[in-house]
Amino acid sequence: MSLPPIRIAVLGSGFFGTTLAVACTSHDAFDVVAICDLDLASAIELAARVDARALGHPDELAVADDVDLVMIATPNHTHAAAAISLLKAGKSVFVEKPLAITGLDALAVVDAARESSGKLIVGHVERTMPGIKRMFHAARSGSLGTLLEGYGSRARLVHVPDGTESWWKLDRSRSGGEMLHEIHELDLLTWIFGEPVDIRATVGAPQRAGAHLEDSVHKTTLKFASGAVAHHELSTSAHVPDWRLRVSGSAAALEANLRTGVVSQFTDGRLTDRWGIFDSEPANASLKESAEQPQAYGLPGADSPLWMQAAVDCELAEIAAAMRGEDSVLVDSPARAVLAATEAISQAEAARSGAAAVSLAGV
Ligand SMILES: NC(=O)c1ccc[n+]([C@@H]2O[C@H](COP(=O)([O-])OP(=O)(O)OC[C@H]3O[C@@H](n4cnc5c(N)ncnc54)[C@H](O)[C@@H]3O)[C@@H](O)[C@H]2O)c1
Repeated sequence: MSLPPIRIAVLGSGFFGTTLAVACTSHDAFDVVAICDLDLASAIELAARVDARALGHPDELAVADDVDLVMIATPNHTHAAAAISLLKAGKSVFVEKPLAITGLDALAVVDAARESSGKLIVGHVERTMPGIKRMFHAARSGSLGTLLEGYGSRARLVHVPDGTESWWKLDRSRSGGEMLHEIHELDLLTWIFGEPVDIRATVGAPQRAGAHLEDSVHKTTLKFASGAVAHHELSTSAHVPDWRLRVSGSAAALEANLRTGVVSQFTDGRLTDRWGIFDSEPANASLKESAEQPQAYGLPGADSPLWMQAAVDCELAEIAAAMRGEDSVLVDSPARAVLAATEAISQAEAARSGAAAVSLAGV
């Protein structure tokens, strides 16, 4: 017997809300019933495309009897308040990354979920990519031996289009800055290795004149309770691009190269297995092709590339599982990455002001 569809509302009808809503329409588990955006004209346009009704204020979702799950795809600084108010109304929420832009707000969402009949699901989409999920299971099953070392990086040049000076994605007070906006690899490390017990972080000065990206080079070292250590690198100023995740244990190591779409297994220094980030070759080829293009954040109205649509399809399967109370990679440690990122940011900022004080003392 087939299960009734999960009735979805999408909050935010910009670039990613559109990707999510359109993907839901081709997935049997979901029925998109409402699209909500403060920009009602945008909500109306997407609602027409997915055959749903349009709403102009998030409060209308809290009282909508025909909505089971709200997908929150609004600017990052609005996630926590929207999620808390919907959870208080008994709705389940899928919150796009990052869950919040402060540690306190992330914990407040987790508290609201604990007291709600609704579920909290966080959009850590890279966890759902089949090749990455397989890495997680290998690490957890012990087949890599004792976990010793991890590495996660996202280094690239991010193109900032003309005319976007007031865009929220370039405004740290609304995006949370790069560590939070691009939280994916930090999430993968803290999801696989667990809660960090020590974090050491540093940040470079903004590197690109004319661009509006702040804090564009971050380097963070994390130590975990097991004794394992991981390094995380994030840069929007990198002429040599890199995008990878490595998990090394005493018996074997795995490395995902997201620029080539391949996960490699090494044992005793030799390549012993390899598999795709996606199970589909066209999706792996699209990931590789995207990595070779100039990088830019998605603008409202832009289409997602094939690999991102494939990732969202994987994510929707995990969302459906979470809603049905089945195992899902999207429910574990919902706030851990935000807590690690905000600790890294405050450490890096303290170190930066310390460095200024040292150089002044030298004068
Ligand atoms: N998982 C991924 O790979 C991925 C990719 C892109 C974006 N995202 C996330 O999706 C979210 C949305 O990003 P986007 O690219 O779609 O941004 P966007 O600017 O294209 O769209 C945001 C939309 O939210 C609306 N909005 C703003 N404040 C609102 C509020 N308080 N209530 C209701 N609507 C409001 C805006 O009118 C706009 O239509 C962000 O959190 C971003 O981090 C995730």
